[in-house]
This record gives sequence, structure tokens and C-alpha cells, in this order.
Amino acid sequence: MKVTVLIPAAGSGTRMGKGTKKQFLLLDGLPILAHTLRRFEDVPEVTEIIPVVPEDEMEHCLTKCVEGSGLKKVRRVVPGGQQRQDSVYNGLKAVDPGTDYVMVHDGVRPFVTPDLIGGLLCSLDGCDGAILAVPSKDTVKEVGRDLVVRKTIDRKSCYMVQTPQVFRYKLLMDAFRKAYADGYYGTDEASLVEKYGGKVKVVMGSYVNIKITTPEDMILAEALLRKDAHDKAAASRKRAKA
Ligand code: C5P
Repeated sequence: MKVTVLIPAAGSGTRMGKGTKKQFLLLDGLPILAHTLRRFEDVPEVTEIIPVVPEDEMEHCLTKCVEGSGLKKVRRVVPGGQQRQDSVYNGLKAVDPGTDYVMVHDGVRPFVTPDLIGGLLCSLDGCDGAILAVPSKDTVKEVGRDLVVRKTIDRKSCYMVQTPQVFRYKLLMDAFRKAYADGYYGTDEASLVEKYGGKVKVVMGSYVNIKITTPEDMILAEALLRKDAHDKAAASRKRAKA
């Protein structure tokens, strides 16, 4: 199985309200994007990782996130587009046509784990794509532009969708071409595949797999990194004692 991972990281990060784009903000001395790329490097099925970054940050990405990080599977970067979908499409056009599956993962979700990635790849049988999601903890309402509630959606059927999302390469490419022909823009890849009749399966994600979007997410991300370091130290002490 050959899997190419596309990492869209070409957003402007306006919701973060900082000078530096959020994907390049430092977490424990390393850009968020570098943390994210590392999470895919050791997954055996992954043959190539392609970050999609702002055109004027391509050099910066290579120097700060790739070189010196030991990332052998990142061999090139691709310029992003106006919207997330355009960035992913630029990445898709760069994929080696011999690849079987394309996995797409937000550059600002650095807490995805090999277990989550592996679980997703194992769930592809009998469907066109698989996506990570978690049950909604909150009640979800559909609201009009006037902020008046239109309806309450049954919480039991509501899942908050995350990335990675994985699809057969040719099917995803086909869905993107059709979406552009129809002028359709979605906020994730699955919505395009669903629109053209594809069967997409939900796989349990994790509440830790956060998307760093607003300043309070940085506080949470720093706490999660500290917990990671603490857990690793505890595990190595346990191994040393055994
Ligand atoms: O905007 P959103 O929160 O959906 O962004 C998710 C990911 O998509 C981020 O990593 C962001 O950098 C990326 N993105 C992109 N190109 C854009 C807009 C967003 O690659 N034009």
C-alpha cells in the first residue's frame, strides 16, 4: 500500500491574531508544522509527505521545518492557494500517480498519533474513504444569519470531524475535478467525495487531536506537550525498573 500524505499549511492564520502565521509559531522551540510532519515520518505505509505552504514561505518551511529535522519523506513543498480546498488541489496535482491512497492532514494538528493514523488505514475496506471524528460533547444547533435558531440537531448523530482523512487517490482526484467543474467548495475532502456518491466511514478520533486555531489553543497545546513529555519520561522509568 502506497500512501502520500498532503499537509495543507497555507492558511493566513488570521484567527490567531499574531504576526507569524500559526503553522510557524513555536511550540517547545519547534514550528507547529514541524511537529505535525514528524508524526507521519515513522508510519511505514507513508511513502511521501508533501507540505503545502504559502508561496512566500516555501524556503522558510524547508529551512525551519524540514532540514535538520531528519524528515526523509518530505522531498518537496508545494505552494498553497486562496482557500484550503485550492491548497489541497495543488498538493493533489503533485502526487506521484503510482500512489494508492492520499491522506490529508491539517498542518496545525500536531497531536495526531501513529495509532490514530494506523487505525484510519485499517478501516478502508469496503468504503471509498475514512475520516477521524469524535462525538460532539455539546448540543449543535443550526442558526440563521439573524442568530435565530432554526433547529436543534440530535446530538447522538453529531460527530466533530478532524483530520487525517484518507481516500483512494483516483477517486479523490475525480471528486476534486467534479467539484471545480460545479463550482463547489467544501471545508473538508470528505464533503467532496460524499457529494459525488462516495462512501466515507467515520473512525474514532481523539479529543487531543486539536486544531490550533485561536490563542487559547496555544495554551492547551503547550499543556498537551508537557503531558506527552511527562508520559514518555514515566514510561522510560518503568522500562528501566523492569
Ligand atoms: O482554515 P482552516 O482552519 O480550515 O485550516 C486548516 C488547515 O488548512 C491549516 O493547516 C491551514 O494552514 C490550511 N489552509 C491552507 N490553505 C488555505 C487555507 C487554509 O492550506 N488557503
